[in-house]
Amino acid sequence: MKVLATRRYPGPAFEELGEVEVQPLSQLAESRPEVEALVVANEPVPLELLPGLRLVANFGVGYDRLGVEELRRRGIAVTNTPGVLDAATADLTFALILAVRRRVVEGDRRVRAGEWTGSWADGFLAEELTGSTLGIVGLGRIGQAVARRAQGFELRVLYTRLHPARTDLGEYRELEDLLAEADIVTIHTPLTPETRGLIEAGRLALIKDGACLVNTARGEIVDEPALVAELASGRIRAGLDVFAHEPHVPEELLSLTNVVLTPHLGSGTRQTREAMTRIVVDNIRAFERGEPLVTAV
Ligand code: 8YV
Repeated sequence: MKVLATRRYPGPAFEELGEVEVQPLSQLAESRPEVEALVVANEPVPLELLPGLRLVANFGVGYDRLGVEELRRRGIAVTNTPGVLDAATADLTFALILAVRRRVVEGDRRVRAGEWTGSWADGFLAEELTGSTLGIVGLGRIGQAVARRAQGFELRVLYTRLHPARTDLGEYRELEDLLAEADIVTIHTPLTPETRGLIEAGRLALIKDGACLVNTARGEIVDEPALVAELASGRIRAGLDVFAHEPHVPEELLSLTNVVLTPHLGSGTRQTREAMTRIVVDNIRAFERGEPLVTAV
């Protein structure tokens, strides 16, 4: 099968594909390669340039940018990489929670700026994690991995999701009640028409003064201009790994000390990214052999 990958995806499994065309989608208009399977990282698929396409293997669990409905209409199979990135994403969520609550990045900047000139026994205070309330928006695979880690940090866990689940990982709340009650709100829903703009200005305003919003899911789930305004006012804090128009980060955020910014690193460990490539390759192999796909969307 002729495979085109938008980059060399990490890990030994990629080599198993043998001869693969590697080029970004932006070059397709010129090169017009004949392609049956496409490996992308949640990028819009230019169907007009790929007339022979039969399979899209997405490197990632979220597939909101692929244009899945049109792919389905044309009978093109789609796969993703669920499960293997839950731990890495949950870990990064806690990295951001800890960094924001304990002012880690601000502390680092102050040390580098030579501002650590004596004891800060009476100042530069942060917020304790133990005993605070964590609100999880979306208790799917990643949300559950976050909830399990929260037990170790002795957090009280609230969660909201489309349908309340039978779980001992936390207490169910309606979204508005969760936002008003939590000290830390963390987002773990996929981006769908229902969740786009879910945390809009009115709901952002429900978040408690001094509380922290963490987003390792998708930037478009939050009304970004409204979030920027809340952060600029200093009322809340945030840890943001995702943005509405990546890789663009709103200019206003760059000078704020109440927000920690990372460049979409949720699944970004060597182990996880290699496991994602493994699933991509297994799906392509299964498709070639006419076997059931490992992780069909
Ligand atoms: C990215 C992700 O796909 O799985 C997802 O939904 O957003 C990530 O794993 C990955 O970072 C490559 O861009």
